[in-house]
Amino acid sequence: MGNIIVIGSASIDLVVKTEIIPEAGETVMGTSFFTTPGGKGANQAVAAARLSDQVYMIGAVGDDDYGQQILNNLKANNVDTQFMDIIDNESSGTAHITLYDDDNRIIVVPAANQYVTADSVLPKLTQFQAGDIILMQHEIPEETIEAVVEFAIEHQIKVMLNPAPYRKLKQEILDKVTWLTPNDTESQLLFNDEVDSALQKYPKKLIVTKGAEGAVFFDERLQKVAGFKKEVVDTTGAGDTFNGALAVALNDNKTLEDAVNFANLAGSFSVTGLGAQGAMPHRKDLD
Ligand code: RIB
Repeated sequence: MGNIIVIGSASIDLVVKTEIIPEAGETVMGTSFFTTPGGKGANQAVAAARLSDQVYMIGAVGDDDYGQQILNNLKANNVDTQFMDIIDNESSGTAHITLYDDDNRIIVVPAANQYVTADSVLPKLTQFQAGDIILMQHEIPEETIEAVVEFAIEHQIKVMLNPAPYRKLKQEILDKVTWLTPNDTESQLLFNDEVDSALQKYPKKLIVTKGAEGAVFFDERLQKVAGFKKEVVDTTGAGDTFNGALAVALNDNKTLEDAVNFANLAGSFSVTGLGAQGAMPHRKDLD
């Protein structure tokens, strides 16, 4: 079994719950507010590390209190933080989240996450080997992802790219990653095509998540792996839980179908509590 290396954002989520969404120029009263660790990279690292050992995170935080909270939280969740940078005179990333009507709206301010550059990341990858899995998302610079993919190809390291939030993806990156895991909306934007037809073009590589419905991929035929229905408290981080768990299952050499099923199950747990990481499951929960 290899290592899982998550390269991505680490942030603090500032979460407001409301029963009314304000129009432009309008002020409304919310019902509650809390801060909690987030960032798609850190969420995926925590999701993986609750299910497996040997999970590393490569990322950056600011030299502020949020930065310390982010690092402490990663360590408390079994994530190896030796490759996390602390950026002088910079704030940690924040995500400004509104929870409304069983769904979320998110604005991310990357701050220190912009310093997750190719120059800072590539030297840290030299200690990893063929067979390890790198997991990335779109909250760090595009150039970093491109450079890491090239490095990974050269060193036979597998790459799972979760292209969230959506931004354009070069065809060569798409061709070179081992797995691509957009949600339904991101898939349609990336391929400018219906999900089923995109899946057929990328068998066993493209895995599209469909929320509570589960996930789909193509493997000689269309494989629909059903999700698990749970009472929804907060959907934030469900996709991240899916990705972290999928990396763990593939690292355990499960078949793609079994791995997606495992990831669906992990994702279903995550919606049952507040906060991106609040209800991410541990291995004993899934057993
Ligand atoms: O995927 C959920 C995450 O997206 C939140 O934790 C927030 O930090 C945003 O980056």
